[in-house]
Amino acid sequence: MAHLNEQPAWQKLSDIADAIKFEHMRDWFNNDPQRAVKYTADAVGITLDYSKNRINQEVMDSLFELAEQCQVAEKRTAMFSGEQINFTEHRAVLHTALRNFSGNPVIVDGTDVMPEVLATQAKMKSFVSSILTGQHRGYTGKAITDVVSIGIGGSFLGPKIMSEALKPYWQSDVKVHFVANVDACHIQDVLAERDAEQTLILMSSKSFSTQETLQNTLTAKKWFLAQGGTEADIAKHFMAVSSNIKAATEFGMAEENIFPMWDWVGGRYSLWSAIGLPLALTIGWEHFEALLNGAYEMDCHFQTAPVEQNLPVILALIGLWYRNFFNAQSYVLLPYYHYLRGFPAYVQQLDMESNGKQVAGDETVDYETGPIVWGSEGTNGQHSFHQLIHQSNTLIPADFMLPLNVPKQDNTHHAMLASNCFAQSQALMQGQSHKEIVEALKAKGVKKAEAEVLATHKTMPGNKPSNTLLFEQLDPKTLGALVALYEHKVFVQGAIWGVNSYDQWGVELGKVLGNQILDKIQSEDSAPGFDASTNQLIARFVDSLK
Ligand code: F6P
Repeated sequence: MAHLNEQPAWQKLSDIADAIKFEHMRDWFNNDPQRAVKYTADAVGITLDYSKNRINQEVMDSLFELAEQCQVAEKRTAMFSGEQINFTEHRAVLHTALRNFSGNPVIVDGTDVMPEVLATQAKMKSFVSSILTGQHRGYTGKAITDVVSIGIGGSFLGPKIMSEALKPYWQSDVKVHFVANVDACHIQDVLAERDAEQTLILMSSKSFSTQETLQNTLTAKKWFLAQGGTEADIAKHFMAVSSNIKAATEFGMAEENIFPMWDWVGGRYSLWSAIGLPLALTIGWEHFEALLNGAYEMDCHFQTAPVEQNLPVILALIGLWYRNFFNAQSYVLLPYYHYLRGFPAYVQQLDMESNGKQVAGDETVDYETGPIVWGSEGTNGQHSFHQLIHQSNTLIPADFMLPLNVPKQDNTHHAMLASNCFAQSQALMQGQSHKEIVEALKAKGVKKAEAEVLATHKTMPGNKPSNTLLFEQLDPKTLGALVALYEHKVFVQGAIWGVNSYDQWGVELGKVLGNQILDKIQSEDSAPGFDASTNQLIARFVDSLK
């Protein structure tokens, strides 16, 4: 296949970007009353208004052509059919099998994996029931009231963030506490408030080799034994989720307490697996299944909708338009819903660990790939970083998202939240011209000369792009669809850029060096033989231990 920037559509897009550089979205809206309707699409309860973008039909058509020239549809088929598209690790990419309600088999290396997936889900459902009904007892015969979920990255972000997002759907008095970082203050704070007799430790690690998770679990084990538990009681209070059953059992986990996962499920795509157990414990199995179903329906939409109506394809292509043709270094996620405040951090790992690569096929590329993803809940950002988005020379496309209905809430608050959400995307798009500001200042009595100077500082350039995603309410099904939407957006962009979105070699060197430095620190070696900076940093730390 031709190099990406040699594709005909790429050159066409580059020419169009030059041609529309000085056109303003405000004029496009004024000239086309149908613009908003034309550039809005719906799927699985999510409405995407992408009209406040620097696009027209020629741009969209050329972007769709680029997707076709980069064989996105063929690559999508390869993924869903279990081909080893994670070609550096020789693995299939089948997190979609975990939410496969079609009844059809999913073949990996000649074997239908669905029986094992369904058996694991049955084990999960039974475990959730035994904990939430109080049937599962601790070593002194008491029911479990608290679960400490230990994991990091994809073994933490999904269950934690989606538990927050679905707070209106929390089902039980069992409280789940999340611990990720190896900084001991977190696990110490969490364990200090726990009663070991009624606490279950749920350790999640696909590799069962992540330093932070292993250390935190060891600390939890020491705590448990210091509280009065014995080695014989471990099986009642320690469970694990991992693809590395051997390492888990060698660590001391009872085999019947290990929930399997598979190498064809990437860590950042594992919410749907037993990694999601802490979420299922929080919202109950029925709601967890609804989450899976929402993702499944988005999978079906992604596989069947024509590109012009395909939400993952549209989001992906618009993001690529700014990344590669407007040199946008980042995009910002702005959930206008407090419970969805963690969503930017979730998509940050999903997107940046998937597409933050520089190799396509087997060659280093010279074009930009994965963007920097960041964001926080609205309206908070308006009183923090929105200034830069509105008035700097840095283009930062935004994804706004808002539930139209929120449970048990004062309508005034929600009307204010919605009006702020809509106003921000409107201000980003239309801006406010120098002339408009001078007139407004003069109308307030400001002298013309002063108004002219002040207006220069108050001018809002506008023409700043955004998408707005609306949904009736953020219920489990809609959340599942929303997460799958962004998973498939990342897939489409990775397919066009040609990167392997499913490995993460970039995190390995830091782990190796970290272990080498840890050895030097623990042996109090003040001449470790690294570079001068690292040596002096280690020396300072070693000295501080004395
Ligand atoms: O180091 C990165 C990473 O492998 C992520 O991809 C993953 O989600 C996280 O660490 C945790 O890995 P594990 O689940 O194997 O402990």
